[in-house]
Amino acid sequence: MTQPAATSDSLPTPLLFTPLKLRSLTLPNRAVVSPMCMYSAQNGVANDFHLTHLGQFALGGAGLIFTEATAVSPEGRISPEDLGLWTDEQIVPLGHVTDFVHRSGGLIGVQLAHAGRKASTSAPWRGRGMVPPEAGGWQVIGPSDEAYNAFYPQPVAMTVDEIRRVTSDFAAAARRAQMAGFDAAEIHAAHGYLLHQFLSPLANARTDEYGGTFENRVRFLLEVVRAVRAVWPTHLPLFVRVSATDWAAGGWDADQTVQLAGLLRFEGVDVLDVSSGGLTPLQQITAGPLYQVPFAARVKAEVPDLHVMAVGMIDTPAQAEQVLEEGAADLIALARAFLRDPHWPQRAAHEFGLTPTLPDVYARAGW
Ligand SMILES: Cc1cc2nc3c(=O)[nH]c(=O)nc-3n(C[C@H](O)[C@H](O)[C@H](O)COP(=O)(O)O)c2cc1C
Repeated sequence: MTQPAATSDSLPTPLLFTPLKLRSLTLPNRAVVSPMCMYSAQNGVANDFHLTHLGQFALGGAGLIFTEATAVSPEGRISPEDLGLWTDEQIVPLGHVTDFVHRSGGLIGVQLAHAGRKASTSAPWRGRGMVPPEAGGWQVIGPSDEAYNAFYPQPVAMTVDEIRRVTSDFAAAARRAQMAGFDAAEIHAAHGYLLHQFLSPLANARTDEYGGTFENRVRFLLEVVRAVRAVWPTHLPLFVRVSATDWAAGGWDADQTVQLAGLLRFEGVDVLDVSSGGLTPLQQITAGPLYQVPFAARVKAEVPDLHVMAVGMIDTPAQAEQVLEEGAADLIALARAFLRDPHWPQRAAHEFGLTPTLPDVYARAGW
């Protein structure tokens, strides 16, 4: 089931269906389910919803499935209903999900996250703003004491001890992720969440060794990567998601992303997942098909040996194939396209004239 679709004639296999080896893991194809918050957990614990939601992508033939942003501590949740890996009780329920994915021939990674000043907020359909303490919200933390905007909670600036504690929370969550059977881990340093807040001068006003210069602003992320890589098995790949630019003057940008990418490669990161934005309400984005691909392409061109995942409005198999053919990325992450069609890879194979490789139980689908 996990093998790439067999070619129906002598045409070359599309790059989308070419396997990719990352350490000891071989992805059967390049279509990755991008992390997506589902606001459906209680106390961070996975349930039938997560099993069904993530499991369907394995049946649909995804090359690798990522969980939603999974909090490394309760105060690191974006919303009260996020998944978590901050206690051992959260391991077994996620283990059911990884078991199902594996039995269905799939691979699954966990996105480890801390939301920082963008924590304690509501699901989008409930208005996205702050969840007050009386409704289950909590005191949020960040590099500085400035809120994201007037509708978001007021953070308390972290002490160095707190930075160390969150670093070890990431490592402890990675260890639990291994026990839960995940095949890959991704550190979330994008979309204006805690690690991105430290990277960007627009959110980080610190004057200690974690603020100011580029070296100081990247320090926390590098320490987290080091701590996670130290416990995450050597044979399994580590991804980092970044926002390549804040889309705002004076913020984090593509040049700094390239510089950071070189450092991450040195720390044993296997894949840079290149997204953008989310740090400041002042961002000016003109989004459209493939709009983030140029950032991925730059990292790919300038940082040899680092694999790159492109994401953002890459919706059709032809677009995904184009990005791979141009050498702009090694992997394609899709979010909304997978929500619309969990069988996206099988449909893509069919569109390319291949015979989709299906789970045995679905073999009579007759693609
Ligand atoms: C419902 C939903 C939830 C999301 N949650 C996360 C998340 O937990 N972590 C993350 O890094 N990105 C998250 N994203 C962003 C996606 O992973 C992706 O980067 C973005 O949607 C652009 O890709 P697309 O055009 O293929 O949807 C979310 C997107 C959607 C639509």
